[in-house]
Amino acid sequence: MPSDTAPNNGPWDAKLQQFHGGQEWAQLDNFVEDFSVTTNAFGMPSSGKLAAVHSIEHSHHYPPADQEPAKSSLARFLWPGEFAAERERLILGNGASELIDLVIRMAPAGTWRPGPFHTQYKEYERSARNNNFALLPPGTAEKANVACLVNPCNPTGDYLELPELKTWISDNVLPGGYAIIDESMQPWQSEKFREHSLTSQREYVETLYRAQGISVFVMHSWTKLWCCTGLRLGSVVCPTAEHMRAIKKIQVPWSVNTVALAFLNAVVEDAKYLQDTWEMTPIWRKDTVDRLQTMFPAWEFHGRDFLSWIWINTKDTVVAERAVALARAAGVPVRSGGPGYNLPAFIRVAVRHPDKVNVLAEAWKSL
Ligand SMILES: Cc1ncc(COP(=O)(O)O)c(C=O)c1O
Repeated sequence: MPSDTAPNNGPWDAKLQQFHGGQEWAQLDNFVEDFSVTTNAFGMPSSGKLAAVHSIEHSHHYPPADQEPAKSSLARFLWPGEFAAERERLILGNGASELIDLVIRMAPAGTWRPGPFHTQYKEYERSARNNNFALLPPGTAEKANVACLVNPCNPTGDYLELPELKTWISDNVLPGGYAIIDESMQPWQSEKFREHSLTSQREYVETLYRAQGISVFVMHSWTKLWCCTGLRLGSVVCPTAEHMRAIKKIQVPWSVNTVALAFLNAVVEDAKYLQDTWEMTPIWRKDTVDRLQTMFPAWEFHGRDFLSWIWINTKDTVVAERAVALARAAGVPVRSGGPGYNLPAFIRVAVRHPDKVNVLAEAWKSL
């Protein structure tokens, strides 16, 4: 069962569902900004919003069963040079959550293990548990049939570069097994994110599959980078076109709706939005860390400087609980590390515009 340490899990059924952030905003009369999710500080790109609104006009028709032209557009975004050859490995989903579950359903039965970090995004574990995998303890040296690593890691902010990532895969996946690497937050890395991404490593992935039967999947949630959690958009890059077809076979038809497809087709062209993201996120992140560090010298701030959130160890469960309550009361909810991650002294704070950080800092003055 998911760990459940919070007295109030809001809309989540803590016995059946995995806790996530992002549910409180609708219940707050004084809502200002959602610091509890890792979405882009720039909000939903207007290019995508416009396309999504227009697409309502066509929403009395079924969406395209082949997810086109949005799928090819995303392929062109991921592989500007080689998209035609690569797109057969790509499939879209109703958020990464749908694809996480589908890939784990197809995976070879046996053991499951998480990545090497203190904790990681929990849907992989939830799906493995639901599909009767034996869960290996974090930190185990044992190789698993299915190994899932979130890179950069939500929530800890750890990040492995490609050589370390490949070593981890070799050290942790059994021959014939699956490695699912979640790169949802990786495009924040910089303008050069593609060179640092596993999506650029076709030859490596092919060789690993041929030599050891290890299938490497690269998962993306697009609901964070393009701030569209309500629209539901994800994709997975499969090791081969056959793997992609195996997912297609079990995927519910039209799981990505007309509005989400139109949104995706537009945002991949929005170079300005990404330029702004790469330029401002590290600046706003550093400003927020500096400010909070001054206010709370005992707190520890974790995560790479390009990330859209800050993972904070307050080192005191009572302080963390009060910080969460004060933020919520001021209309700026943050994510407690308690429910879901079972790390109640930690909080996660999204990177946001300085005006919104002012509201949070004001709320925490009495902490
Ligand atoms: C690392 C990571 N992967 C996947 C997801 C799932 O996202 P979605 O289903 O909204 O695409 C999330 C959401 O928080 C996430 O943080």
